[in-house]
Amino acid sequence: MKIFTIASIKGGSGKSTTAFNLGAALAARGKKTLLIDLDPQANLTLWAQASDPGTLPLEMITARRPLRDLVTSTNFDRLQICPASESLVFAPEELSAKRNRDSRLKTQIETFRHGHNLPAYILIDTPPGFGILTRNALAAADAVIIPTATQFLNLSGLISFMAHLEEIQEQLNPTLKVAGILLTRVDRRTRHAQEIANLIRQQYGKAVLRTEIRENVKLAESVSFGKPIFTYASTSHGAEDYKALTAELLNNERRRR
Ligand SMILES: Nc1ncnc2c1ncn2[C@@H]1O[C@H](COP(=O)(O)OP(=O)(O)OP(=O)(O)O)[C@@H](O)[C@H]1O
Ligand SMILES: [Mg+2]
Repeated sequence: MKIFTIASIKGGSGKSTTAFNLGAALAARGKKTLLIDLDPQANLTLWAQASDPGTLPLEMITARRPLRDLVTSTNFDRLQICPASESLVFAPEELSAKRNRDSRLKTQIETFRHGHNLPAYILIDTPPGFGILTRNALAAADAVIIPTATQFLNLSGLISFMAHLEEIQEQLNPTLKVAGILLTRVDRRTRHAQEIANLIRQQYGKAVLRTEIRENVKLAESVSFGKPIFTYASTSHGAEDYKALTAELLNNERRRR
């Protein structure tokens, strides 16, 4: 079981879009995948058409309920979801005075591992920023994917994210790897986007994934129909890019082994 957290400081950088489509692509390749929606906005939950789980996600993160109680199927073969709800907004206050408040999800996943019929992959979607939910997701992960939109200047967010990440690695999860910075919403026709993409590649080198996710309106449309890009518009740039991303991540993983 390999666990990826998808996180970034800025909102609207394509975290949930990446979780949804990467999950669908892995499932289509025969790899059983569990999405964990840790964002109170619950976008991923809505897109996967899971029903509102009420206060269960909050109870999961405070350890009153096991993770396995929340896992439900989606409309797609081999793709499951642990849905989110607004109740997660209370996580910071519920956990503030508790011990191990940043490792709640990690402990949950450790217990979950003892079950059977485990997924090959877990993808954790997080709210923007570095709040307690994101810290839990990073503490529980093997590797982090960092979507970064190149539409607007986003470099400061990325720099502060990478600095925070080092802290997390030191304090919470020394084995956490960077699966890669993922350039999203790339419009190579504009000079601005090109400059930003080039700057990030210069600055972070090999930590940046080769695949870029182009700006593609089909990606925005597809989720409102509750469909991954591969079934909504199979020949779009979005489908091409997310297929390439999946192949790149699997390939990198094979090489690391
Ligand atoms: N490559 C893309 N091309 C066009 N639109 C995109 C692309 N990626 C994401 N979008 C759209 O941009 C918006 C933000 O994307 P998404 O919800 O995935 O970002 P997010 O990082 O999860 O945001 P938040 O931090 O608020 O959870 C959505 O409306 C989505 O449909
Ligand atoms: Mg999101």
